[in-house]
Amino acid sequence: MDHREVKIYGPATVSNVGPGFDLLGFALESPGDEMIIRRNDSGKLVLIDESGCNLPLDPAKNVAAVAAASLLEEVASGEGFELRFTRKINPGSGVGSSAASCVAAVVGINELLGNPLNTMALIPHALAGERIASGATHADNIAPAMLGGITLIRGYDPLDIKHIPYPKDLWCAVVHPEYEVKTVESRKLIPEQVPLKTALTQCGNLAGLVAGLATGDYSLISRSVSDAFAEPYRTGQLPGFDELKQHAIEAGSIGTGLSGSGPSVFSLCRGGDMAASVGRCMQEHFTGRGIRNDLYISRISEAGCKII
Ligand code: HSE
Repeated sequence: MDHREVKIYGPATVSNVGPGFDLLGFALESPGDEMIIRRNDSGKLVLIDESGCNLPLDPAKNVAAVAAASLLEEVASGEGFELRFTRKINPGSGVGSSAASCVAAVVGINELLGNPLNTMALIPHALAGERIASGATHADNIAPAMLGGITLIRGYDPLDIKHIPYPKDLWCAVVHPEYEVKTVESRKLIPEQVPLKTALTQCGNLAGLVAGLATGDYSLISRSVSDAFAEPYRTGQLPGFDELKQHAIEAGSIGTGLSGSGPSVFSLCRGGDMAASVGRCMQEHFTGRGIRNDLYISRISEAGCKII
């Protein structure tokens, strides 16, 4: 391998997954970010955007560069790197675009440096980049993008991340209506305090969802995919959201909700055929309202960020 260059894939992720606000997320097989990272002799981070997404090229404002700088500071490396963004998940789509970039940057640079840090130790650096995008430290996109599978953030202080087992025929359909939602703005819509009753509902559903995933109990999963903390305050810009959910469930979705801070909407489904058919149903919702959209059908990906 040429130790001056590495090509990385960082997967898209669905976070929150109903009741797991800031705590639960999973990786998709696609879409994802692709980035080529090269050593350079400048001692600086140089950003090149070939993704067509108009990414900020100032290293202080680019989430991947902030993550990379955090890693380089910890390992006390004065080396320079070029980050070339070749494929990019649409920013503001709700499927972890910033997390995919942050994770790809730190995994790639760590590899070129000879892996001074293990995967878990890279997560705080990826989070440093994610913080720029969301104004908060939330690892529910970073953890699955890094580690693959379904991850639970059991706690933040200290960071305690666990893989949750899940049935192997669990697939996901994600529809991305053509809006851009900035997570930092979307988080401002959520009340800081929740009544005890709401907290109990959310705790019950999160525990139920984790238990349902671990035991392959689809009925329990289905009863548990519901968010009382964030989703009710975030769906204002999605016309007919309740109707969309209802139609997706009728079409065979096990659980439907806002992906991350939106605007993408996910449905968990049993098998790829069902995911495709539920996905088409969700697409029709937006297409019928004249809203352009993209559909992604994917298994839950066991793989997280990887060198390609
Ligand atoms: N948990 C985060 C939020 C995910 O809902 O704000 C953002 O992608």
